Amino acid sequence: MMGIIGGTGVYKLVERGNLKEKKVLKTPFGESPPVSIFMLEDHEVAFLPRHKEGHDLPPHMINYRANVYALKMLGVDRILATNAVGSLNESLKPGEFLIPDDFLDFTRSRPFTFYDDRAVHVDVTQPYCPQLRQTLISNGQKVDGRVVESGVYVCTEGPRFETPAEIQMFRKIGGAVVGMTGLPEVVLARELEMCYASICMVSNYAASVSSEKITLDEVFEVAEEKKKELTRLIHNSILNISDNRECPCSHALEGAEIE
Ligand code: HPA
Repeated sequence: MMGIIGGTGVYKLVERGNLKEKKVLKTPFGESPPVSIFMLEDHEVAFLPRHKEGHDLPPHMINYRANVYALKMLGVDRILATNAVGSLNESLKPGEFLIPDDFLDFTRSRPFTFYDDRAVHVDVTQPYCPQLRQTLISNGQKVDGRVVESGVYVCTEGPRFETPAEIQMFRKIGGAVVGMTGLPEVVLARELEMCYASICMVSNYAASVSSEKITLDEVFEVAEEKKKELTRLIHNSILNISDNRECPCSHALEGAEIE
């Protein structure tokens, strides 16, 4: 089954599907937000709002382990996530999308693994599922506006936005976009052998890339404006992806620990 994790401004994605049920899952890591299970033509899809509905939870307080585990319990094997981001370059504009192919992790206080009781070291040479990414990229051609095919996602701890010095550093070390919610989610999915790809929605230029002050209002405004395109991209990707998982994600735990 396909799972969707909706970020800021994306609390519902069932408009074109048929809602079957909504349920809270009890995981070993705590409860999930209410997950909507719906049919998109003949595909069953689970939708989980990362921040809970109405944006109650700040990025560092989200229970990423409960969220990913809840989707696994439902039988989800592939996750499409949406993440609001700031752009580190003038050439990538608010309203555009980017499909990241790598990340830099600057988070510091979040539970970041399912394996605290044994040494499991998953490989993240390709941190985002190559097959899911390719599906997003090819379906991105049908979306109004630009979908950038790769780039490094920088994850900060938040909840504050970044300083100019931090943004200059992120640019120098190869970052394309900056957000607060992509980690540890992407790694937790890999730890459970689930495919994971992200659609980053650029809501603003990062601090000092433009001289404007960054506000949460603009983040929500762009999310609202781009909701239709985002929904279209996700729905088309779900309808067009092949049923077979032709990627390394499904056997990520092979070789990750001593036998
Ligand atoms: N920085 C961090 N997270 C964000 C930003 C930003 O500029 N915009 C949206 N999420």
